[in-house]
Parts: sequence; C-alpha cells; structure tokens
Amino acid sequence: MCGIVAYVGSQQASRLLVEGLKRLEYRGYDSAGVAIGNEHGINLARSVGRVAVLEDNVEQTPNLHGTIGIAHTRWATHGEPSEANAHPHTGTTRDGHTIAVVHNGIIENYRTLRTYLEGKGHTFSSQTDTEVLAKLIAEVYDGNLEQAVQAALREVTGAYAIAVITSAEPHTLIGARKGSPLIVGVADRSYLVASDASAIVAHTTQVVALDDYQVVRLCAGPNDQKADTDEPWSVELRTTTIDNIPVSAQITELEMDLDQIELGPYPHYMLKEIMEQPETLRTCLRGRIDRRDGRVILGGLAQHTRLLARAQRIILTGQGTAFHAGLIGEYLLEDLAKIPARVQYASEFRYRNPIIEDGSIIIPISQSGETADTLSALREARDRGAFALGVVNTVGSTIARETDAGVYLHVGPEIGVASTKAFLGQVAVLTLISLYVGRRRFLAEADVARYLEALDQIPDHINTITQQSDRIRDVVEQVIDRDNWLFLGRGFNYPVALEGALKLKEISYIHAEGMPAAEMKHGPIALIDQGMPVVFVATRGSQYEKVISNIEEVRSRGGRILAVASEGDTNIARYADFVFEVPDVPEPLQPLVTVIPLQLLAYHAAVLRGHDVDKPRNLAKSVTVE
Ligand code: F6R
Repeated sequence: MCGIVAYVGSQQASRLLVEGLKRLEYRGYDSAGVAIGNEHGINLARSVGRVAVLEDNVEQTPNLHGTIGIAHTRWATHGEPSEANAHPHTGTTRDGHTIAVVHNGIIENYRTLRTYLEGKGHTFSSQTDTEVLAKLIAEVYDGNLEQAVQAALREVTGAYAIAVITSAEPHTLIGARKGSPLIVGVADRSYLVASDASAIVAHTTQVVALDDYQVVRLCAGPNDQKADTDEPWSVELRTTTIDNIPVSAQITELEMDLDQIELGPYPHYMLKEIMEQPETLRTCLRGRIDRRDGRVILGGLAQHTRLLARAQRIILTGQGTAFHAGLIGEYLLEDLAKIPARVQYASEFRYRNPIIEDGSIIIPISQSGETADTLSALREARDRGAFALGVVNTVGSTIARETDAGVYLHVGPEIGVASTKAFLGQVAVLTLISLYVGRRRFLAEADVARYLEALDQIPDHINTITQQSDRIRDVVEQVIDRDNWLFLGRGFNYPVALEGALKLKEISYIHAEGMPAAEMKHGPIALIDQGMPVVFVATRGSQYEKVISNIEEVRSRGGRILAVASEGDTNIARYADFVFEVPDVPEPLQPLVTVIPLQLLAYHAAVLRGHDVDKPRNLAKSVTVE
C-alpha cells in the first residue's frame, strides 16, 4: 500500500529519498511527501499526485538540504488525498522541537487519542490517524526520541510501520513496526529504512528485517571533536522492543538485484513481467524437478513429508489473484493428491469461526507475504492448531516467517500492480506440492514423471504464446469500445476465467465477470447482447464438448467469441470470432498456459484505452490493512 523510505547518513537525503519513492510508487500513489532535517530544523514538501510532482516541489522548496530525512507515498485510508493529509505529519514538543512521522497501517484508537491530545492543546491540520501519532510522540517526548516512540507505541492499537525524526536529535532516525513490514538497510556510513526492499536495493543489499513490536534506533553523524576516537564519523544501530528490551539485530542479504526492478526495454512493468515469464518459471522450477526418477524436490517440505501425506483436509487461502491460484490449487490437490481441499477468501475465513480438525493444513498464498487478510487467516488457523505451509514470493516476509514450512515462488520481485508472474509461480508451486504429496499417496512414479516432463516444457510453450502479443492487441482493438465482458471456463480453466476478468477490470476499468461456463445459463446469460465480448477458455480436455455448447449458446445471442484454444484445433474456428492458440498440455497444467493470452489481452486493452498500466487508479500493490 503506502510506501516508506527514510535515510540518515553522509549524503544529501532529499534526492535519495525521492529516488526511493519512485521505486515505491507502485505500492500506492495518491500523494507523497518528504521531511528533511538540517540546521533550520525540519522542513517538509508534500504534493498530491505522482512522485514526479513532489520532485518538482522539492526542487522549489527552500531549506530541503540535509543528511537525514523521511519520505512517503500515500494510498488514502483516513482522509481524502490532499496535501494536508499527505505524510509526513508533525507534532511539536513542549520545548518547541518538531517531530516528523511517516506511517503505513492504521491506528485504530486514533479518535480517542486525538481527543486526549486536543485536551492537551495540540491542534490538528489533517484528518489522518498518522498525525495523532506524531502529536503523541511530541507529547511524551522528554529528550530521547527512541523512548518517546516506544512510549507512544505502547498507547496505540492497530498496525504500523513508521519512521520518525526530530529537530532535537539531528542524526537520529527511529523506525518501528507492528503488522506492516519495515526493513533497515545497512550502507556505507549510513542507514536506510524502507517498507519495501526495492526502495533501498540501489544502495545496499545488507538488511535487518524488523519484527512486530520492534523499534530500531539508527544514528549516523560526525563524531564530536572531543570524542575519544580518530574516526570522523560514527554509526550505531540498536533494536529494542517497545518495552525497551534490547533485541539482537540479524543482518541478512537481500535476494534482489537492481536489474530485476529496472524497466529495461519495456514500456511497462506489467509487460516486462508477462514477457519474462518463461525465464521466471524456469527459475521457479529450477532444482525442483527430477524428471527421470519422477521426483519433486522441495527442500522446505522434506521434514514434513509424513504430516503432509496424512493430511485430512487442506485449506488454501489468499486474496485476489492469489485466491484464484488457490482455487486452481484446490482442483490440483484433489485431483493429484486426493486430499479434500478448499480455497477460501482469507478475509472471510478469518471471521467465520473456521473448523480446524486434526490433520488440517492451511496454505496461505501471497506474492507480497504481507497481505493483512491473508496474515490474519494464517494466524487464526495456526491458533486453532493447523499446520501452515506458505506459498509466498517475498523472501523473509511476515507470512513466510510465520508459517511452519513453505515453498518460495522464486519469481523475483513483482513491480506491476496487476499480478502476472506471481500468479504463474503460485500455480506452478501448487502443482509441485500436489505432485509431491500425490506421489506419497496414490500417484505412480510414471505419472509424476509424465507431469514433470510436461511441466518442464511450459516455459518454452509460454514463449510461443507471448509471440502472439501483437495479434492479441489487434483483436482487442476491434472490441475495445465495449464496456462489459464475460470470461468463461470449466474445470481447471474456471479459475483462469476469474483471473482473466480480474486482470481486465483492474487495469482497463472495463467491467468484466468471470464464472464457470455452465453458470452463465443460470442468470448472466441475460447480459449478452449484440457484440458483447465473451472470452472462453476452451482448450482440449474432458469438458471440451460442453464448452463448445456454451459457446453456441452465447453466439446465438449475438455475443462475440474470443476463444483460447489448443494448438491445431480447427473445429473451434467454426464457433469463435477470434482464436488464440496455446500448446496442448495435460489438463491439470493448462492454467499455466491459458492464463498468458488473458494477461496480454488485459494489458493491451488498458494501453488502448490510454490507462497507466502500472499505476491503475485506486489500487495498491500490497494491501496491508484488512
Ligand atoms: C491482482 C492483484 C491482487 C493480489 C492480492 C493479494 O492483480 O495483484 O489481487 O493478488 O492483493 O496480494 P498478495 O499476493 O501480495 O497477498
């Protein structure tokens, strides 16, 4: 959602922070701001809109030089997008010093705290919950920023990742987290704090990931002339809990490099991530397939094989695209491993008093590893005794850390707001897990070997599909004026239809619905009028004939059929207006190929409609509030 980046060190902070914000923009971007500390105190620049607007503002604002600062891109939760509501927010201490705060998350008791602080004489200039935090820290400040932050956070309920500076301590930066991610980058003579590694990877790959209720104090500045050292510069990192209990900080190496988050020759991250899927899938599968012996190798599951093989029930959970991957996982686990499996929206699961019996396993699925609903569902299931197996992309993320075992996607950082390569990775990993468990239950070695051989060829197949990109654009151009679309599929391709519809609506703002093809007859068929685009995932398989019947039903009512069909299917051309071919693969693996044309279709629709594909309105990459 919102993004935080902060810096203390020897370089000028403002340019470095604006550059960091640009890399965070994909997380949320209705407004942005920076606060820089220097000999004049703390100065702010805040703007509504893109970081580019803030960049101009920073250049025109006097007194924004300085080697310490905090910055934020905002995605509104409390209060409309406006300059007054943009972060940083400030408070004034009793002795007249400024406290500046940037915050991700939600302070749930902010109304009570605001009334209390107004009673103490603080006046508020925004509608945000964050300003309450800034004023609260100022209210309790007594000459030590670290202690003031700890004390303020003890009064707060809700979720937060924060970075805080004060004019009273010009070389000290404080960070803290609960329920929202925050990492510290350790660089040369300096520290960075960020909500997302992409903001700091240009400066360092050495990071400390904070845990919930932890506070970090970072000091970097010139040594006092009187100090007993020849070193001109000193740095200090200290981590504690909000109760001031020291915690040892572990520095780890980031699994990310700058190339992965650069746009390269592509016009948009979404297109880059779609086109690079052959390579990302290869990376995801690397070392996990032993085709000859029909073996899946998943190191993260090795110690839990018996438990998995004896599972009584598997609950898959996630939101949005991850939920769609989970639905495919449900089909895969039942088909290949013969274990009762159900996918549930994490947001619903959490609050429905879920039944967890002995032998229940929960699989939270998440690209970011930070989605609040998915995290809550995971915690609820674990509290009730479920074993948790994470399917997560972001290494070291909260969900990854809170599961009992897991399989990382290894598809690299996903920057495009619309998830593409992470979906592919999620489906691939769920396929591997299903084969891994299936082999320990009913699947014969030869069957597993057959699936693995097919799986190994999918990256090459995707390559041939992405080559149809221009043609897909030409087809989309012919129906781009239509505001209502349907996406239909059966079996393993029903979740793909849901995913195709989600992709189209989130970036092109065209209304689209996905559903099981047969469900259309039970109501939605009334929507079909002359020329309405209806996308069928109609590949060869057990339900092919039935899908063809559904196509005929739509066609006879004037719908325009766009079909994703198997290579060499000459029959389908008799029913469909446009056909996008995908190579033939075994039915359980079909989603890995059928989703690709739908990703490209959504991408081209958004571009043709003139939308900013990587920054769709109202959307944020990672939703860290429930
Ligand atoms: C859609 C999309 C979202 C995410 C959802 C879960 O393109 O990206 O629907 O899939 O917000 O996010 P993660 O996977 O980070 O938990």
